[in-house]
Amino acid sequence: MPMTAIILAAGEGTRMKSRHPKVMHKLLDRPLVSWVTRAAREAGADRIVVVVGCGADEVRAHLANEKDVECVEQTERLGTGHAARVALEATGVNAGPVVILNGDLPLISPETVRAFADSVADGSHAAAILTMTPSDPFGYGRVELADDGTVARIIEQKDCTPEQSAELLECNAGCYAFDGALLAAHIGEIGNDNAQHEYYLPDMVEILRGHGHATTIVHCADYREGLGVNSRVQLAELTEIARDQINERLMTEGVTMLDPKTTWIGPDVTVGRDTVLLPMTMLWGTTSVGEGCTLGPNTRLTNCTVAENVSLEETVGVDVTIEKDVTCGPRAYLRGGAHVLAGAHVGTHVEIKNSTIGVGSKVPHLSYIGDCTMGAGVNIGGGSITCNYDGVHKNRTVIGDNVFVGSDTMMVAPVNIGDGALVGASSCVTKDVPADALYLERAEQRIVEGYAAKRLERLRREV
Ligand code: UD1
Ligand code: CA
Repeated sequence: MPMTAIILAAGEGTRMKSRHPKVMHKLLDRPLVSWVTRAAREAGADRIVVVVGCGADEVRAHLANEKDVECVEQTERLGTGHAARVALEATGVNAGPVVILNGDLPLISPETVRAFADSVADGSHAAAILTMTPSDPFGYGRVELADDGTVARIIEQKDCTPEQSAELLECNAGCYAFDGALLAAHIGEIGNDNAQHEYYLPDMVEILRGHGHATTIVHCADYREGLGVNSRVQLAELTEIARDQINERLMTEGVTMLDPKTTWIGPDVTVGRDTVLLPMTMLWGTTSVGEGCTLGPNTRLTNCTVAENVSLEETVGVDVTIEKDVTCGPRAYLRGGAHVLAGAHVGTHVEIKNSTIGVGSKVPHLSYIGDCTMGAGVNIGGGSITCNYDGVHKNRTVIGDNVFVGSDTMMVAPVNIGDGALVGASSCVTKDVPADALYLERAEQRIVEGYAAKRLERLRREV
C-alpha cells in the first residue's frame, strides 16, 4: 500500500514573534518545513502533503521548488486534528499507512518515519506515536499510560493538572502513524472540549482505542530527534544540535575541523576525506567538496562543486565549479557560473562571475573578470578588469591561451585577445588583438631632467 506523509504547517507560530510563518524559519540553511519534507521523502513516502495556512503564499512559493510535494490549505486554524482532517478530505487518502508529522519537527530521521509507517502497515496497530523524555518537558503533550502499559491518552500541557505536569514526563513528539482507513473513518470524532477549544490530533489515539484497536508508542532513544521548535530560543538550540550531528558525521567520515563549533554545514553537503575545514567555514545547499582540500578560515560556499586538493581561503562562492589543484583567496568572490579549471589561481580581492578561468591561469590581484572565456596559461596583471556591461548588455571577453595581460588593463567587451598575445600595462583594449601580437595603448612619456627639484625650490621661495 502506498505510504502518505502529511505535514502540518498551517500554524502561525505565535511564540516566534515574526511576520513569517514558523515553518519558514531556517534551521541551518533551510526552512523547518523542508527538513520534514526531506525526512518524509527519504523514508520513501509515495505522497507528501503539506497543510498550509498562516503565510500560505510564502510556504507554497518555497515548496514550489520541491516538485513531489502537494499543498492543501487549512483556512482556519482549529487545531492539529482539524489540519489532518482537512488534508485527508482534500486528498481523498483513506488507505495505506499515513504518517503525520508536525512541521516544526526538523530533526526527525527518515529511519524513524519509515519504521513508523511499517508499524501500522502490517495491520498489527491502528496507530503509533513517537514519544521522548526531553530535559524540559514543559509545553509538550504528556503521555498517560494505561494499566497494560500501552498509551491511554495524551494530555496537552494546557489541560494538565499541576500533578500531571510534574509526573508525566513522557512527551508526544508530534510524529504519528495511522492505518489510513481507520484514520479516515474516525477522524471526525475528535472534539474540541479542551482548554484551547482546538481539535487535537493526539486525541485520535484514545478514540481508536475506544473502538478496540491496538495502538503503540515508540520511545525515541535520542530525545533530540523529537524536539519541536516553538520559539527562537528553541530554534537556536536545535540549530546547534543539527550542526553537531552533521559535523560529527563528517569527522567520522574523515574530515578534519579545527573548530567544529564555528564550522557550519548544511545537511546535503558532502565533503571528501582529508579535507581540512578551518573556523568560520560555511558550506550550504548542494555543495560538494572533494578530498584533500583546505577551506577557510572564513570561506562560505553555496551550491558549489569543488574537486580535490583545492585551497580556498576567505573565499565566497555561489553556484560555481572549481576543479582540482585550484587556489583562491584570501578574499576571492566567485559568483554564478564561474568555472575555475585545474591548477588555476584566483588571488586576493578578485571577483569572478560567469567566466571560465583556464587551466593553470592566474588572476592574482584586485581584478574583476565577468562574462569571460579564458584559455590556459593566462596571466592577468593586478587591477585588470573586463568591462562587460555597457549599461544595457552584458558582453563577452574571450582571452586565448598563454595571453599576458599587463597590470591595470581595461578589456572593453565584446573583445577577443588571441593566443599568445601581449597586452601592455595600463592599456584600454577596445579592438580585437590578433594572436601573438603586442597591444599597447599608452600616452607618450616625457622626461624633463631636474624639473621636480626646481619646482619644489620655487614653491618654497613663495612661502
Ligand atoms: C503539539 C501536540 C503536542 C506535542 C507537540 C510536539 C497537539 C494538539 N499537540 O503541540 O502533544 O507534544 O506538538 O512538538 O497536536 N498546525 C496546523 N494547524 C493548526 C494547528 C497547528 O497546521 O490548526 C501545525 C503547526 O503549524 C505545527 C504543528 O501543527 O507545525 C504543531 O502545532 P503546534 O501549535 O506547534 O503544537 P504544539 O503546541 O507544539
Ligand atoms: Ca510545536
